Amino acid sequence: MGNEATIIPIASGKGGVGKTLLTANIGVALAQLGHSTVVVDLDLGGANLHAALGIPNDFPGIGDALKLNRGQLSDLLVPTPITNLKFLPGDGRIPFMANITHHQKMRLILQLRSLPARYVLLDIGAGSAFNVLDFFGVAAKGILVTVPELPALMNMMTFLKNFIFRCIEQALRQNYDLANFLYEQYNRASDVEPVTVRSLQEQIRTISPDAQQKILKICGHYQPRIILNMGLHPNELESLSQISRNVEEILSLQIEYFGFVFQDTQVRKAMKQRSILLSSHPQSIASESIHRIADRITRLWDQEITNSAELLINNTKQAYQRFVGHE
Ligand SMILES: Nc1ncnc2c1ncn2[C@@H]1O[C@H](COP(=O)(O)OP(=O)(O)OP(=O)(O)O)[C@@H](O)[C@H]1O
Ligand SMILES: [Mg+2]
Repeated sequence: MGNEATIIPIASGKGGVGKTLLTANIGVALAQLGHSTVVVDLDLGGANLHAALGIPNDFPGIGDALKLNRGQLSDLLVPTPITNLKFLPGDGRIPFMANITHHQKMRLILQLRSLPARYVLLDIGAGSAFNVLDFFGVAAKGILVTVPELPALMNMMTFLKNFIFRCIEQALRQNYDLANFLYEQYNRASDVEPVTVRSLQEQIRTISPDAQQKILKICGHYQPRIILNMGLHPNELESLSQISRNVEEILSLQIEYFGFVFQDTQVRKAMKQRSILLSSHPQSIASESIHRIADRITRLWDQEITNSAELLINNTKQAYQRFVGHE
């Protein structure tokens, strides 16, 4: 893959599920493994990644670069207390950056791709705004964070649906008939059968076989990876296989489960002390889970992970027994 950085966008359907904590600390763990890493605050409108890194909010960042419309993002990288880890601030000092233009967004994405690092982690805002969906789409493999509770899992499904529908719409928008067809399908009344990607591509085949191929390609390209955060017990993972079957059936997407991070009182303490969790509480159960995720990124990120639900359940049971003891 040459010298290009591996970009890992980190998003979530629901807010407050731990994206910022995980972006900062997975970045720290990757850096501690010896990989040059940049963590980027792309939560435009809600930037606070600096806090999880114990850094003040007074450096120019993406907001300034976009506003001035010149300069390179790489000139704005801020050193952190961790060797090998740099930080790219967001829009802390510039208002209204959640509403950047399409042109600004494209320029930003281009520059993110050429940041000088082995890994570039993007802390993206929550929800399904177009900017968020487009940032999530900069890489074929991105991380979706959720807590293992039904409302958050449903928000995750909604995010994935919005994401894949957005990708399809962007790919076919040049063709007027197809764009119209998609518009009608996406805006169908909610009392009729919900649109699935399969039904969409089967109908589109009759309009344009090429367009159908494009949809199949898009669905095969993206492999979102799920991290469950603030988990309490391995039994919260029982429905994982069912969730992936649903995602495949409705959205024609293959998701993989990548990590489970336990709920841990040390996280709050680290935040309160304005310290980095992995530095101030290295032995905590959340830190252990995060080190494990970083290690898996270095070993497995470019591979397909088969049986990811089963694997995660087994690993989580072992971690639970080590830390919490036997039931
Ligand atoms: N594993 C964990 N154990 C305990 N508390 C956690 C854990 N992960 C995150 N938290 C707490 O949850 C809160 C939300 O975390 P964080 O800010 O990282 O979420 P977020 O997804 O970035 O939120 P937003 O959508 O607002 O950007 C914080 O108070 C954090 O301390
Ligand atoms: Mg956040």
